[in-house]
Amino acid sequence: MDVYSILTSYPDYNPTDTTTKQGAPMIFPEWTTANLALYAALTLLSVGMGAGEALGSTLMKYSKFRPQKGWHPRAGMFTLYFLPIVATVIAALPYLPSASLVQVIVLTTLITHFGKRCLEVLFLHKYSGPIDPFTTLAIASFYTLVAGFLSYLNRWPLPAPDGLFWLGLFLFIFGETANFVHHKILADLRGASSEYILPRGGWFDYVVCPHYLFEIVAWLGILLLSRHLFALIALLGMAGYLLARSRRTLTWYRQKFPNFPSNRKAILPFLF
Ligand SMILES: NC(=O)c1ccc[n+]([C@@H]2O[C@H](COP(=O)([O-])OP(=O)(O)OC[C@H]3O[C@@H](n4cnc5c(N)ncnc54)[C@H](OP(=O)(O)O)[C@@H]3O)[C@@H](O)[C@H]2O)c1
Repeated sequence: MDVYSILTSYPDYNPTDTTTKQGAPMIFPEWTTANLALYAALTLLSVGMGAGEALGSTLMKYSKFRPQKGWHPRAGMFTLYFLPIVATVIAALPYLPSASLVQVIVLTTLITHFGKRCLEVLFLHKYSGPIDPFTTLAIASFYTLVAGFLSYLNRWPLPAPDGLFWLGLFLFIFGETANFVHHKILADLRGASSEYILPRGGWFDYVVCPHYLFEIVAWLGILLLSRHLFALIALLGMAGYLLARSRRTLTWYRQKFPNFPSNRKAILPFLF
């Protein structure tokens, strides 16, 4: 038995048969008992992340919510973004030599996302303190699971790019670019200090976490490119987490800055 079929099993992939599930807007696994259990567990994990952050029970301890002591932030952050790249490449090895255009683009987006984050951690972000070791390991595990499993599922790609696929590529590029622009604004505002500054410029004039919003846009792009059910589960989990974290960040800013603009929202301008 193929070792990967323990994880999940898809019908035989036939790139010329557009009536198969691979031709559908979403690609689903076969609903065997093992896959039902696997996808239920992945959904629970994903939803649990946002719920934990919202309730405070598993608040991730980095940045504004960091502990007094911990790992060096650059080393911790680099680790948690680099491991997913390793997982992505390893999971792609079996199909890499004969990869289709769709497979190459999906892989490229995953590696670009985590590669961009590695470069930002090394050369752009200005950190003011440590990151909690457990948080580092938890985030590293989640990202590695997401990237590795999406790369593995990329063995069963869309048979050919369709309109949603190209929209996904656009959203990915737009989301990553806008996300970078807002990271740069934060780094420039901080300058040589290690203080927290009331953010302004770009969409910071409307929300406290525009970089989170554009991260969600980029992952929506990856969903439209991959089209696997797991990409939707991962997107919902990340969006839930980032929504919850942005609300906590808004509360934090309101407490820290007495003159905080009352109309500024958490992540969605004018709405949330
Ligand atoms: N896909 C996911 O599930 C997921 C989850 C979390 C984050 N992310 C993404 O990862 C990226 C970074 O997230 P993050 O939570 O680390 O962002 P963040 O807390 O806003 O921090 C980003 C950088 O900006 C600095 N910074 C933040 N607020 C500042 C302020 N008011 N003044 C000066 N410097 C400030 C931080 O320094 P300090 O370290 O000193 O605070 C850090 O260097 C985002 O694009 C986010 O979308 C993705």
